[in-house]
Amino acid sequence: MKSLLVTGGAGFIGTNFVYYWLKNHPEDNIVVLDALTYAGNRANLIEAEKNPSFKFVHGNILDESLVKSLLLDHKINTIVHFAAESHVDRSIHGPDEFINTNIVGTHSLLKIAKKIWLDENPQSHRFHHISTDEVYGSLKPDDPPFTEDSPYAPNSPYAASKAASDHLVRAYNKTYGLQTTISNCSNNYGPYQFPEKLIPLIIINILHGKPLPVYGDGKQIRDWLYVDDHNLGVDLILQKGIPGKTYNIGGSNEWQNIDIVNLICDLLHETLLKNKDLQKKYTKSPSSKGEHPKTLITNVPDRLGHDRRYAIDPKLMLAELNYKPNELFSTGIEKNIEWIFSNNEWWESVLDESYLDWIDKNYHCSPK
Ligand code: NAD
Ligand code: TYD
Repeated sequence: MKSLLVTGGAGFIGTNFVYYWLKNHPEDNIVVLDALTYAGNRANLIEAEKNPSFKFVHGNILDESLVKSLLLDHKINTIVHFAAESHVDRSIHGPDEFINTNIVGTHSLLKIAKKIWLDENPQSHRFHHISTDEVYGSLKPDDPPFTEDSPYAPNSPYAASKAASDHLVRAYNKTYGLQTTISNCSNNYGPYQFPEKLIPLIIINILHGKPLPVYGDGKQIRDWLYVDDHNLGVDLILQKGIPGKTYNIGGSNEWQNIDIVNLICDLLHETLLKNKDLQKKYTKSPSSKGEHPKTLITNVPDRLGHDRRYAIDPKLMLAELNYKPNELFSTGIEKNIEWIFSNNEWWESVLDESYLDWIDKNYHCSPK
């Protein structure tokens, strides 16, 4: 039986992980540790909090005495470390938090895990570190996708901070024998994603009739994976992955940004045209006024240091762990749009004033 500490469990992927785990491993206990930054939302976990095997703790991964007492009090034997500052644009405008949380925070967790699990009370354990394909830098159009052996070449402060944390996790395995695994995943999408990231931002801007900011020429490529398929990969690594190893998780699903934006415009337009209630609810959406959402597409200056292409080679996950994503992009994106229609209150509540100010200041247009 596992007793898990899930850091960052009130954020996008962490929330989905908690629900995935409660459903698929009901015998296990879960403690979420989350600092509830702008990206964390305790209300996400309202259903989980009804489950006696689940506990939410409001706190920071940098708080060593808190982490120590959580490991001891809850007999934690598995850490799944999601907590991070995760948005590239924010890292360009203010890198300090990325260094504190992503590098110093990860090191703080590693130190306590080593102290409890190796030095004071030796026991079977696992430290799983959630990382990103962005650590490998940018691919050219004809380059093969990233493998676990691709050299690290992070370009943004976000990617550099995640790369540093990956190296620390590796070092704690090589030097002290901490039982670590790392997963480097491609871009996720799905429920609870904060609407500063491309897919939810475009959907919500269309519903508000706001411009759709496309950075540069819009031909940058990302490899999109439905969030539950990321969590399926993490599950397999926790069950069968080999300590000391890194696994790349991806869906072999490369899209240019502009094509994703056009696809979302078409899907929302079709849905709204068929549904008068939605037209009444979203009166500012172009489709409610007889126009196509594509009229909102706006080219804005490119992101500094913008990586051109990411793509994951998922061969190791398939060969070693028999991993295959379940969700097709066509069905995943429909589900994501449906979730946004059904969870108006959620995204209205996370669009707070500071977020709106920030997004206005940083070259695009706020979704309200
Ligand atoms: P998110 O920004 O939605 O959530 C981050 C969570 O971490 C929030 O709940 C926040 O409150 C919490 N947090 C931040 N600083 C903390 C601290 N110091 N102590 C405790 N909690 C803290 O991020 P996400 O998109 O869910 O990403 C989760 C992880 O997955 C990150 O490590 C990210 O690098 C990685 N990742 C994300 C993607 C993606 O597409 N979103 C892809 C690959 C990897
Ligand atoms: P994002 O969702 O921020 O993820 P990441 O930068 O981690 O890949 O952005 C995905 C892509 O979409 C990236 O190439 C930047 C681009 N983008 C836009 O063109 N406009 C936007 O408003 C945003 C948020 C992103």
